[in-house]
Parts: sequence; C-alpha cells; structure tokens
Amino acid sequence: MTFFARPPRREDRPGTRLCPLAEIPEGTGKGFELTDRDGRVRAIFVVRRNGCVVAYRNVCPHAGTPLDFKPDTFLASDGETIQCATHGARFRIEDGACIAGPCNGKGLTGVAVEIDANGAIVLTHRSNFN
Ligand code: FES
Repeated sequence: MTFFARPPRREDRPGTRLCPLAEIPEGTGKGFELTDRDGRVRAIFVVRRNGCVVAYRNVCPHAGTPLDFKPDTFLASDGETIQCATHGARFRIEDGACIAGPCNGKGLTGVAVEIDANGAIVLTHRSNFN
C-alpha cells in the first residue's frame, strides 16, 4: 500500500502562503488543506495551465467527493479540463464551470489566490466555505 503525504495544513486567511509557483509545473495541480478559526478543515487545489493559476475547493458539485483519484491529479489525461475521479465530470480550468458529466450546469467553488512578489501562491481572501 502506498501512502501519500499531504502538505501541512494552512490557515484559511488572506496572505496565507500555499507554495512557490515553481512547485506546480505547467499542466499540473496540487492539493492543500485549510483550517478555519473553528478548526474545520477544507481541501482546496491549485491548477497551473496555459499561464493561468486557479484554485478551487476540492469538492465535486455532483456528489461532494474529492476530485482527485490520487493526490495532486486533477486534470483529465488530455490536460485540457479538470476531471472528477468519481464519475468523470469535466470542468473548465479557467472558471470551474462543469462542461460535461452529471453536474453539467454547476461549477466548482473558486478560491481567490494570487502570485506574490516572491513568486509564491497566496490566498487573497478567506474562503468562507460552508
Ligand atoms: S462526484 Fe464528481 S461527477 Fe459524480
């Protein structure tokens, strides 16, 4: 059995540093866990593709499962969309809209991030997940 190590949990608040941009090569993604003030844990992920860096909550709008079948694998095999590992729904990378599959018409919940002056991916807002 293989165990995968998740990065350490980070606080869900503006300015929290997720990782250096260089840790997410073009065409890949990376998962993180955030904790809020009440100690609740939420999984998010960041994808880097075609110069675009986006982040979403790691929850499929269809059945609420994590999107990655194995840690840090969020893109479909063609690299053009985010794909849910459970039933195969596909989401546009740029805005998280579901474009195929059982949750067509819904979308991923976005997480606000930016690249800071040191080249790190940081949260710009508290995520306010319910
Ligand atoms: S849980 Fe994601 S497509 Fe069903």
